[in-house]
Amino acid sequence: MAETGMKDEALSDVVASDASTTAEVEAVLDAPVERGEPILQVRNLVKHFPLTQGVLFKKQVGAVKAVDGVSFDLYQGETLGIVGESGCGKSTVAKLLMTLETATSGEVFYKGQDITKLSGRALKAVRRNIQMVFQDPYTSLNPRMTVGDIIGEPFDIHPEVAPKGDRRRRVQELLDVVGLNPEYINRYPHQFSGGQRQRIGIARGLALNPEIIICDEPVSALDVSVQAQVINLMEKLQDEFNLSYVFIAHDLSIVRHISDRVGVMYLGKLAEIGTDAEIYDHPTHPYTQALLSAVPVPDPEAREGRERIILTGDVPSPANPPSGCRFRTRCWKAQDKCAEEVPVLAVPEVFAGRSTLAAHESACHFAEEKDVVHAA
Ligand SMILES: Nc1ncnc2c1ncn2[C@@H]1O[C@H](COP(=O)(O)OP(=O)(O)OP(=O)(O)O)[C@@H](O)[C@H]1O
Ligand code: SF4
Ligand SMILES: [Mg+2]
Repeated sequence: MAETGMKDEALSDVVASDASTTAEVEAVLDAPVERGEPILQVRNLVKHFPLTQGVLFKKQVGAVKAVDGVSFDLYQGETLGIVGESGCGKSTVAKLLMTLETATSGEVFYKGQDITKLSGRALKAVRRNIQMVFQDPYTSLNPRMTVGDIIGEPFDIHPEVAPKGDRRRRVQELLDVVGLNPEYINRYPHQFSGGQRQRIGIARGLALNPEIIICDEPVSALDVSVQAQVINLMEKLQDEFNLSYVFIAHDLSIVRHISDRVGVMYLGKLAEIGTDAEIYDHPTHPYTQALLSAVPVPDPEAREGRERIILTGDVPSPANPPSGCRFRTRCWKAQDKCAEEVPVLAVPEVFAGRSTLAAHESACHFAEEKDVVHAA
């Protein structure tokens, strides 16, 4: 059975850094990356959570394959959107990139250093440069801390970024940057609205001048009108501070608005990845087509006669994924080959070498274009 993995030529080459001493590694991690160059290179990333049985003598009886061989590049200055249904492994990818979870296998190269293998001061330098904004602005902020303490907390671990005497000024500056009144520094989270709280979360994410921000459903808990304001703020900050974003969401419209490229995940794997025009206007993977067919379109003419693909069946358990293509139990095009061979994420042969936006990576044996956004 063929094993998955992205086709080599589709991913940028990893130039592994040969720095060996801690000081050399730190210097490499702090060096700037040119716009458009890969800043993060994820290769065959796997995270299996062991399933155990027994009380005293725990025995492993299986594993939840939350992330099962994911590869992608993040380019400096871009926003890579990651979409997929609940439980497909998006947050686990985020935690692996943040080194909050230990990878079962695979690599995450940041400026040529595999961060899954780092520890001590080098890991600390990585954590300063890769920050996260979380989904829920209601629970992710400690209710007993003032906004000033919340935003300034990262300085306790990295005092070199803002020495003690300078912290108040720096926090007020950050409040101003995210559009909040600097005089609110002594207020508590409950005194803010949801949108304002997410601005506080973003200010905290910016505190250490990171290069990459991993945003895990940053606007999903907010009202639609507030979502747009927060997204606009994030876009403005990206330009101002030269940030690269991994933007996780299950709302495809929001992802399209903010992303340069989009990866679609299904059951621990990437099903399709490409620029937003490639994915939204020329999807070739049946799963992406089904997701897109459910996205509302504002134009009534386009809406009329539009095909809506209803997926039947539940998402299979990640502890026991289907053989071959993981989407086959819900795919209307599935054939015998789909149960036998794992489709590789690569430009499908039918499109290879052709100048069409359908020529992007898609993990389907029978990839074909289907316009699901416009009417037939
Ligand atoms: N610490 C853990 N131990 C065991 N299983 C876990 C753990 N964390 C996540 N999982 C499982 O891994 C799978 C992927 O979870 P994950 O949170 O990454 O999904 P997600 O795509 O972020 O979903 P959502 O859209 O609901 O946030 C799920 O089946 C989840 O139950
Ligand atoms: S490989 Fe087969 S089952 Fe999987 S998406 Fe393509 S047609 Fe469907
Ligand atoms: Mg999640």
